[in-house]
Amino acid sequence: MNSRKIGLYGLGTMGAALALNMAEKGVKVEVANRTPSAVLRFLDDAGPLAERIAGHQSLKGLITALPTPRLLLAMIPSTAPMDAFLDEVIPLLSPGDTVIDAGNADFHDTRRRATLLAEHDLHFVGLGVSGGEEGARHGPSMMMGGSEDSWDGLEPILSAIAARHDGDPCVARCGPDGAGHFVKTVHNGIEYADMEMLAEVYDLLRFGAVRDVRDVAEIFAKWNQGPLESYLMEITGKVLSYADAPTNLPFIDVILDRAGQKGTGRWTVIEAVRLGQSATMIEAAVAARAWSAEKPLRETAEETFGADRAALDIDADMLERAMLAARVLEYAQGFRILAAASVEYDWHLDPVRIAQIWRAGCIIRARLLDDIAAAFAESPPKDQLFLSPRFSSVLMSGIPALREVVTRAAQAGYPLPVLAAALTFWDTMRQGRGTASLIQAQRDFFGRHGFERIDQEGDHHGPWWR
Ligand code: 6PG
Repeated sequence: MNSRKIGLYGLGTMGAALALNMAEKGVKVEVANRTPSAVLRFLDDAGPLAERIAGHQSLKGLITALPTPRLLLAMIPSTAPMDAFLDEVIPLLSPGDTVIDAGNADFHDTRRRATLLAEHDLHFVGLGVSGGEEGARHGPSMMMGGSEDSWDGLEPILSAIAARHDGDPCVARCGPDGAGHFVKTVHNGIEYADMEMLAEVYDLLRFGAVRDVRDVAEIFAKWNQGPLESYLMEITGKVLSYADAPTNLPFIDVILDRAGQKGTGRWTVIEAVRLGQSATMIEAAVAARAWSAEKPLRETAEETFGADRAALDIDADMLERAMLAARVLEYAQGFRILAAASVEYDWHLDPVRIAQIWRAGCIIRARLLDDIAAAFAESPPKDQLFLSPRFSSVLMSGIPALREVVTRAAQAGYPLPVLAAALTFWDTMRQGRGTASLIQAQRDFFGRHGFERIDQEGDHHGPWWR
């Protein structure tokens, strides 16, 4: 990989990890940082890899050292700092150069920036990078949005540093402009839903079935040997197995139950609604995080109403089948959003390739993605995963389990935002005739909005307007 050289600006956790990964794979990396002193520290810590890394004390020095057409990757906050960065570098770059934003950007910003740079005969790439620091250092999953020219220059480097699934590098050009950052955003939305689903099942097992937290950890570890195998399943079993040394309590019990969120799950929901799509499982996960942050209110409500919850003897095998069905529906909702955006923004997103590059390196990597990629390849309707024959048996055995879990949990007072949303999505989408006729009647009554009839063409109004 001696043919390519890339510039990397921003030696924070992710930037430093990416730089080391690139150097390790034979890429020549020119680095710089807003605070120049970090460059020397980074090179000192880089060990033998420092031979392939050249440090610069200024952005201009970094850019001057790059051969044209330049590849300049920025790992900095994708908000105002990115705009300031672009203002600084645009005058320093040459026609045909590419700037890459490898942060978690709002894809609308990426599209805007791509247009801006195009006015200067420059390329702007939005690169979704998933897998945290470990992934950035040893193999992330990457979702690129940008021009074919940029992809031609970047592909050898990104393929070299990407995670691999059966030798397949988990990186792809998803489409132009904001496509890569949008695919990453939906990745994070699915991540939120899966994390919340795991938390809901943890609640049922530990507090409903009153199992010791170490037994619960072992159940998650066992599930990770089967069809529910995934990174999030694996780490959930691991985090539940730790004890807190000073208190000797289960470590999970010394963590405050207020979830953070940098915003990518929320963006997924906002964009889904904007696209006329439903992302009820992802929305439920975002809501659950928001509600968790209202801890004082929840404590007051508990004092007021009590938090009594009945014991719940729930079978682990039933939970496993319920979760597998819910996970299929979770990915189904995520891919429906991708399909809607692909049409809206003319991206031609390929669900097969997206599922494939999510099979390793990223946070939502899961065994199920092999079947999801195959399902999208073999059976239209391409965008409706839950209709694929490949998941018929999982759903036919899993939905009754999901229904039993949601029913019992509701009766005993255990909230299941994501699992309940999965069941509602399923029950709604399998009803050929629903009750939206009443919605239409109500809208026509108060707003004269009109409606279609089942037996006649055209727009109609009810008798209430005669
Ligand atoms: C990834 C993760 C990562 C995520 C952060 C914080 O794919 O590596 O999704 O990009 O943004 O872990 O996420 P939240 O604060 O939104 O939970």
